[in-house]
Amino acid sequence: MSDKRPIGIFDSGIGGLTVLKELQRVLPHEHFVYFADTTNLPYGEKTPEQIIGYARQTLAWMQNEIGAKLVIAACHTSSATALDIVSQEFSIPVIGTIYPLVETIMQNHQDARIGIIATPTSVNSRTHENILIKSGFKGQIQSISCPRFVPLIESGQIFGSELLRITYEYLSIFKEKDFNTLVYGCTHYPWIADTIRQALPETVAYIDPAASIATKSFQELYKYKIFNTLNDKVKVDFYCSGSPETFSSQVSLLMSAPKPLVTLKVLTDQASLPQKRAVNA
Ligand code: DGL
Repeated sequence: MSDKRPIGIFDSGIGGLTVLKELQRVLPHEHFVYFADTTNLPYGEKTPEQIIGYARQTLAWMQNEIGAKLVIAACHTSSATALDIVSQEFSIPVIGTIYPLVETIMQNHQDARIGIIATPTSVNSRTHENILIKSGFKGQIQSISCPRFVPLIESGQIFGSELLRITYEYLSIFKEKDFNTLVYGCTHYPWIADTIRQALPETVAYIDPAASIATKSFQELYKYKIFNTLNDKVKVDFYCSGSPETFSSQVSLLMSAPKPLVTLKVLTDQASLPQKRAVNA
């Protein structure tokens, strides 16, 4: 039987669009609901308690009002600080960024010398390192905090000399420590991939977990038999908690598409009452 319910995706802003692109490629018959919590951006400078609150509200809304069949936290900061705690309160499956990423590293980059670039809150949580080490990772790993990237990317400065200067500064540690692999530990950062590549030697390998997140999503739909098997005209419904006009322009620019309709959605605690049944990924 076909399941036409949408897949929910959320992030603080435009970062999750780097994951949405990959999801649309791997799951071309699925409907998506994308939520950008732009009023609370940047997540990377919020406390874990705040991030937990946002994730709880978002999941409650996606499960109870949107009727999502699966939710993807397309945000490392949320995945690193909130997901293990909050996802158990909901009955729908929830996928974050970190477990799919770790699976990819363990399969193909076991002995790499890795620099993970991420937000301050993700770096402070040490979640990427801890999960990798628990999974038996034998290589070298260090998280690198890049606090200025998200504000620059959100303000449209995805090229230019200021961005390049900061990128050289943040990534100088690659040379010092002889890292050979960069992991995108924030979904915003692939939008500045050209600048990042410019600042590092050609020999460095790059891991963007978007593809592993899409594969994991496919596997979850398969596991629960909740694919949309109808050949529908698929759609993405966009919501944000800040300015819909601004977010619509950003989506249009980054996804090379006409400006989509974006609906204002302000999340409240009211929607965040946990559901009883707890199952989860
Ligand atoms: N894109 C998010 C992440 O992957 C959040 C960035 C932010 O809002 O600071 O961490």
